[in-house]
Amino acid sequence: MTTHSTLAAGELSPADALKREVARAALAEVVPGEIIGVGTGSTVNFFIEALGEKPGLVSAAVSSSLASTARLQALGIEVLDLNEVVAQGRRLPVYVDGADEINPALQMIKGGGAALTREKIVAAACERFVCIVDQSKVVQVLGRFALPVEVIPMARASIEKRLRGLGGEPRWREAVVTDNGNHILDVSGLHITDAAAMETAINQWPGVVAVGLFALEGADLALVGSSSGVTRLTK
Ligand code: A5P
Repeated sequence: MTTHSTLAAGELSPADALKREVARAALAEVVPGEIIGVGTGSTVNFFIEALGEKPGLVSAAVSSSLASTARLQALGIEVLDLNEVVAQGRRLPVYVDGADEINPALQMIKGGGAALTREKIVAAACERFVCIVDQSKVVQVLGRFALPVEVIPMARASIEKRLRGLGGEPRWREAVVTDNGNHILDVSGLHITDAAAMETAINQWPGVVAVGLFALEGADLALVGSSSGVTRLTK
């Protein structure tokens, strides 16, 4: 029998409460006074909310999506252009983002929110990746979550064919156009035992903008929320 409980106004679901707890724990990883790299998604939204409660903790942010930019700006946090930050030689000590799956080597599947390409770009520009997830995202082998791949629209069918060759079943996320004007394929049926090799292979196909495997450069720290608190996972 399924039971349904009703949440009072302002009350968080248990899943959201875990996301908020782990997002708040990430504040301790922020380097005060520096620029923060900010990811995208429902867990990161709680992190942005937490940043908003600590005015002046960071000097500014670099954002991985239009959605996160809007949330940061709404809370009065300045969002800088990544090109300018890098060209000026300014530090980006920490990037905070969620994940759809993470394994014990801190390799991840990301892109459920279609922001994978900009997430990869911002993460790569930052010194340290802090991943914030609830326990449900931790897996031994990546692939239960359908792997997102951002593709140039005219290459979609060609990439689908190649993905089938890897044993996956791609599905076009038809309702979505990314912030970069591209399409997303979600690939189910993969059992990803060598995530770095698969990331390298898919990256090389013409028309692939980014694959949602973050294995070659995974996270440096994962903060994992569960009913017993927040656990730190390192490589
Ligand atoms: C956005 O494209 C994704 O990479 C997200 O970081 C990932 O999907 C996690 O999102 P949630 O925190 O909403 O689960």
